Amino acid sequence: MPAIVIVGAQWGDEGKGKATDHLGSRVDYVVKFNGGNNAGHTVVIGDEKYALHLLPSGILTAGCTPVIGNGVVVDIDVLFQEIDGLEARGIDTGRLKVSANAHVIADYNRTLDKVTERFLGSRRIGTTGRGIGPTYADKMNRIGIRIQDLFDEKILTQKVEGALDLKGQILTKVYNRRAPSVDQTVEELLGHADRLAPYVCDTALLLGEALDRDEVVLLEAGQATLLDVDHGTYPFVTSSSATAGGACTGSGIPPTRIDQVIAIVKAYTTRVGEGPFPTELDDDKGEFLRKQGWEYGTTTGRPRRCGWFDTVIARYAARINGVTDFVLTKLDVLTGLEQVPVCVAYDVDGVRHDEMPVNQTDFHHAVPVYEYLPGWFEDISHCRTFEELPPAARDYVEYVEARSGARISVVGVGPEREQAVVRHPLR
Ligand code: IMP
Repeated sequence: MPAIVIVGAQWGDEGKGKATDHLGSRVDYVVKFNGGNNAGHTVVIGDEKYALHLLPSGILTAGCTPVIGNGVVVDIDVLFQEIDGLEARGIDTGRLKVSANAHVIADYNRTLDKVTERFLGSRRIGTTGRGIGPTYADKMNRIGIRIQDLFDEKILTQKVEGALDLKGQILTKVYNRRAPSVDQTVEELLGHADRLAPYVCDTALLLGEALDRDEVVLLEAGQATLLDVDHGTYPFVTSSSATAGGACTGSGIPPTRIDQVIAIVKAYTTRVGEGPFPTELDDDKGEFLRKQGWEYGTTTGRPRRCGWFDTVIARYAARINGVTDFVLTKLDVLTGLEQVPVCVAYDVDGVRHDEMPVNQTDFHHAVPVYEYLPGWFEDISHCRTFEELPPAARDYVEYVEARSGARISVVGVGPEREQAVVRHPLR
């Protein structure tokens, strides 16, 4: 059985958790392959609401093995907090597997993330402050600490010494902060080793063998296409590969084993943090989307920036990820609008752009070209078939589908697991 990838098509928070969870019962492994606890997804099952940051959403599905892949950066305190929180609610987390090659977010990197943002001032990225960027920087600089290092005190000490040689100086000399000592850092990390040990393995081998046995492996991206370090709105991006290509490097599964790429796209657009956002609304319509869609960050609680659907971005995401199916989420949030604008191109200084401008300055100056579609007022949260949707809602879905580069297979009409219209089964 081939592997399936799920990515976000916009700037994150598209509702991947719900979609992943929706597929859950047909999936044997759910793999997180990038990012760390900068992500946040809320899964609603019955009356229970689960906010997950680090654990893959498959943790909530009995019989599914959740995997933290080698491409993830792990805050071990957060990992145990989430495990404890779920266990307290009766959810078995013993199936979790963590890659021995995943990197660890050390305390000094959390501090560096926050102080760097302050130092950047108006040039800040608006990070989540969880130490993600500095930890990936260490990985690329080859001074990172990996999960497997926690099981070898000698190697761990050498690596922490190496990292603090450099980072300690940056903390004290550039930022005027206290740097932790090598002993303190080593002791803290070693303190996690015994509890972590049962979860740790060669996850690439585990997943390769699962695919050989015809089991279904779902690779779940953190963040989203426009936050990808290569393909996003650099530098206002996260520090990992959040697109379908990243699924391979972040898990050890080769591209030839992936045959389906599902992109989650919201029926409008949101963004947290800094950076360009052509369809952003600064008016009462933006406030309408924020209130109706409850657009406040799961991880930081920040109000999200809101705007209309952008087909240029959706098409870009379809191309970069090789999307086979879109899941359009939160269509119900648009209920009650007289007209729904959809961005179909950009105007940059009088020149029309139908595709993402290659030049970042052009994207920063892009003015959306809108088409205006009729809205609907009927409650659609109970609709379960496409035919049950009011004609204007159907037209909206078909209109954005025709311009987004892949079919829209599922339409979300509410936060509950079953509040979805399935046009083409995902599997
Ligand atoms: P970092 O990932 O904490 O380094 O933050 C870099 C950028 O990515 C900031 O603009 C964050 O707000 C954004 N970001 C990181 N994770 C998420 C997410 O899960 N959803 C939406 N935005 C995110």
